Amino acid sequence: MNLASGASTLEVMEGAHRYNRWIFDRVRGGLGQRVLEIGCGTGTITSFMVDRQLVVGIDVSPEMLREAQTRGNDRARLALMDGTRTAFREGVFDAALCIGTLEGMADLGPAFREVARLLKPGGRFVFTSFNVHRLRPCGTYRLGPDTRDHSLPALEAALDGAGLRLVRFHGTFFLSPGFVWRYHGALRWTALRRPYIAAVVAVNRLLDDAAATRRRCGQFVLLAEKRPAGSS
Ligand SMILES: C[S@@+](CC[C@H](N)C(=O)[O-])C[C@H]1O[C@@H](n2cnc3c(N)ncnc32)[C@H](O)[C@@H]1O
Repeated sequence: MNLASGASTLEVMEGAHRYNRWIFDRVRGGLGQRVLEIGCGTGTITSFMVDRQLVVGIDVSPEMLREAQTRGNDRARLALMDGTRTAFREGVFDAALCIGTLEGMADLGPAFREVARLLKPGGRFVFTSFNVHRLRPCGTYRLGPDTRDHSLPALEAALDGAGLRLVRFHGTFFLSPGFVWRYHGALRWTALRRPYIAAVVAVNRLLDDAAATRRRCGQFVLLAEKRPAGSS
């Protein structure tokens, strides 16, 4: 992943507090008390979870973690760690959360297998993925030059191979986030910036999870579960 471009994307999205809250609302159900956030970035989503017993945010970028430390995340434990090979013991988390991070990974297998190792049996894994079948005229978007999109069957197969089972998914961003960050820059210093972001978020909320959105959305929000040992 291109970290510079990832950071500028986040800087844009941080202007949209309601966007972050909206993403979190899509994934909050079923997270337990002991949560690992993989790719916590600047900690905007981490900060919604600090009321839990244990929240650990990990990231491969020291700059992102430094930023996260300054954002009311003093109750979260933040660590420089790669989500594909962490230093945690097996089965210590109720849930793992991975928002906007898998897009930079060429192969989902190592990350999914590590998540499966870290979750207790029945533990939840919530994550987002860009949809390879998204409605293209609604804006292309890239978190970096090597951003990867995935299809639902490919995600399901990768989960399955790691011992995880897809429980449900939501389709969001019928209008892609490209609408937010493509024009946000131009509007940055004008009074139109906030109303623009609010309007894009409102339209997307309206279309969230509609049948067409589930097929052609920009982003999936998925919930998977760790299979009990011995089940197939
Ligand atoms: C687009 S940001 C998303 C940050 C945060 N989840 C959010 O939604 O605001 C992606 C983050 O994932 C981190 N990242 C990328 N690959 C990673 C890996 N293998 N392990 C841990 N973090 C990773 C990047 O450094 C970056 O901070």
